[in-house]
Amino acid sequence: MFSPSLQRQLYELSKKLLSPQATLFEGDQSRLVEDLQQVLRFHEWKYYVQNDPVISDFEYDQLYKQLEALEAAHPDLITPDSPTQRVGKDLTENLAQVAHLTPMLSLDNSYDAEDLNDFDEQVKKLCKLDKEGDVEYCVEPKYDGGTIVLVYENDRLVRAATRGNGAVGDDITANIRTLRSVPLQAEFSKYGIHKVELRGEALIRKDIFEKINKARQEANDQIFANPRNAATGALRMKDPKEAAERGLEAFLYQMGYAVDDQDNNIIERFHSHDESIHMLESLGFKTPLANAGTRQHLPATKTCGSIREVIEFCVNWQEYRDEYPYELDGMVVKVNSIELQERCGYTSHHPRWAIAFKFKARQATTRLRDVEFQVGKTGAVTPVAKLEPVPLAGVTVSNVSLHNEEFIRSKDLRIGDQVLVERAGDVIPYIVKSLPELRDGSEQVVHYPKNCPVCHSLLVKQEEEAVWRCENAECEAQVVQRMIFHTSKHAMDIEGLGESTIERFYKLGWLRSIADMYRIDYEAVAKLEGFGEKSAANLRVAIEKAKQNPIYRLLHSLSIHHLGQKGSKLVAAEIGHVLDLKDWDLEKYQTIKDVGPVLAKNVFHFFQNEHNIELLQTMEQLGVNLQQTEADKRPDAPTEGPLLGRSILFTGTLSQMTREEAEKRAIAAGANIASGVSKHLSILVVGEKAGSKLKKAQALESVEIWSEVEFLERIAD
Ligand code: IVH
Repeated sequence: MFSPSLQRQLYELSKKLLSPQATLFEGDQSRLVEDLQQVLRFHEWKYYVQNDPVISDFEYDQLYKQLEALEAAHPDLITPDSPTQRVGKDLTENLAQVAHLTPMLSLDNSYDAEDLNDFDEQVKKLCKLDKEGDVEYCVEPKYDGGTIVLVYENDRLVRAATRGNGAVGDDITANIRTLRSVPLQAEFSKYGIHKVELRGEALIRKDIFEKINKARQEANDQIFANPRNAATGALRMKDPKEAAERGLEAFLYQMGYAVDDQDNNIIERFHSHDESIHMLESLGFKTPLANAGTRQHLPATKTCGSIREVIEFCVNWQEYRDEYPYELDGMVVKVNSIELQERCGYTSHHPRWAIAFKFKARQATTRLRDVEFQVGKTGAVTPVAKLEPVPLAGVTVSNVSLHNEEFIRSKDLRIGDQVLVERAGDVIPYIVKSLPELRDGSEQVVHYPKNCPVCHSLLVKQEEEAVWRCENAECEAQVVQRMIFHTSKHAMDIEGLGESTIERFYKLGWLRSIADMYRIDYEAVAKLEGFGEKSAANLRVAIEKAKQNPIYRLLHSLSIHHLGQKGSKLVAAEIGHVLDLKDWDLEKYQTIKDVGPVLAKNVFHFFQNEHNIELLQTMEQLGVNLQQTEADKRPDAPTEGPLLGRSILFTGTLSQMTREEAEKRAIAAGANIASGVSKHLSILVVGEKAGSKLKKAQALESVEIWSEVEFLERIAD
């Protein structure tokens, strides 16, 4: 994009424009605007893509202000891809959903040399290659940020989206435009490309992340757990101005789709993956080729002639990962030849020509300061290790669950011990072992409490269980935990009534049982600090909505031990009204398929308890639905989704997914798959070369006829 001679020219031009003799409002104004735009693009590329600025920030600002002033005087000269137009003024209320041009698949994982050798063998088999011959692979960092999907059409950035569910993501164009490492225009047409979809990752550099968190801490804002959370949060911000302040950068690592102006797929014209990445680099994108400041002898990406080289490169990287300025969770190994990639093909989950090499879990040692005991919603008492805070794989770890008494005993953990903590990727950190060789004699054995730490009643342990329980159902800790669970996403799903609000209302004496949630005094809520009329009104709407929930949600929300969502659905399908259960005997539960004896006993006991019946009666009087709804009648069917209850059929060749996958998605969206075209069919999705089914459906006017794209858009609703 910027050849060495063009770079020299633009540098000279910048100096001229910055010189005191430069006169802004004289001469050809449109030419001047173009010059300033081009000069600013060049400096953005030097700074944000190449990490190699050639002018100072102050000088950049001067040039930027000149362009702003000129554009203000001549608004007709403003183009959407001017450097001044990155930050839009509009707020996005709700992110729109957009269908990707090709499905965004995941990657298969490998963890050691053996896995990579297996992968290599599999590739050779799929490509029908000689066992001894070598396949060329590209190895690049596996960035740990927020996945982004960019679409350029006619050389302009037209859309940016998150990965979403792989088929459909959130439209984040306004935020992505603010990233100066993302060109708003790129000359794809030079390569015969009319429309292209690029995949990449938006990241926050580790040092910038530290600064952001420090500032948040000083401002008493909640800090981010890791750079990935900060990045994915920034991508979805409502105000592009705020998103721009998070210091996001974008690396583009994959061209997923490219067509010429006749809509012909032209991916194969690129012989190899690295050829396409070099093209992206030459067009001004930041790619894995960028020198991101690691050791000279260890580039970020490498084309390897054999799997042996791949293994060596990956293992080396594992050792230096901490030197890289961005968080990585591994490396990605890709078959380089596009022709061989095609031969390998795809599963519905991942391409068979690529694999992630995941870095080893990280470990750290720290001191076990104390063990606290927390009481959960069913009374289970869980020991929690209070650790001297220690940074581990991008997060600071200070609390780690110790599960139960046996765990503490088997690891011989003592308060004051140095312990080894491990965290693999997203997995919750855990204690691997204590280091008894470092003891000085002051360490204390952990005493398991005999009484509940909150209500002090005697703890009980059932023979078949590993945990001690507080059996006092009125124990304050349990009551609050049950309320928190009651409103949670998978239970009654009451937005705005989360943990801190429940604790607050509880302390105010407003909530004594879950029934109280349905008689909240909204006027009083509105007067609370941090609430106001609007929040109180929103809370009312959320609670009124929850009152209409199907009864499987209500059953689930009651915190009956072992009764999860699946069990709740099975029970709900059998009853007309929740209180029917008070007349059920134990045997009756066991006639329900998939309901085991323990679950049966727990539900039975719950409905034998008079307090619980009174609670449900009160809730019903307060308007909570206890009657079976349509959604309760089919426990296997999805209970929500844009195609709920509609029958659908696919015909012709689909281009973006297999028939099987399309059907799976339709079912997940709530539809049922029809066996043929009849008047009972609601939707026919037509791919290429559709035949008699289409004709038949057209004749039946009741059938809606959708294209594949329309289908993808509808399931995204
Ligand atoms: S290629 C069709 N390359 O990893 C293959 N993915 O577990 C598409 N990721 O969400 C993936 N760095 O966003 C590829 N250099 C890289 C990557 C990369 C990070 C992410 C990707 C995806 C996840 C898969």
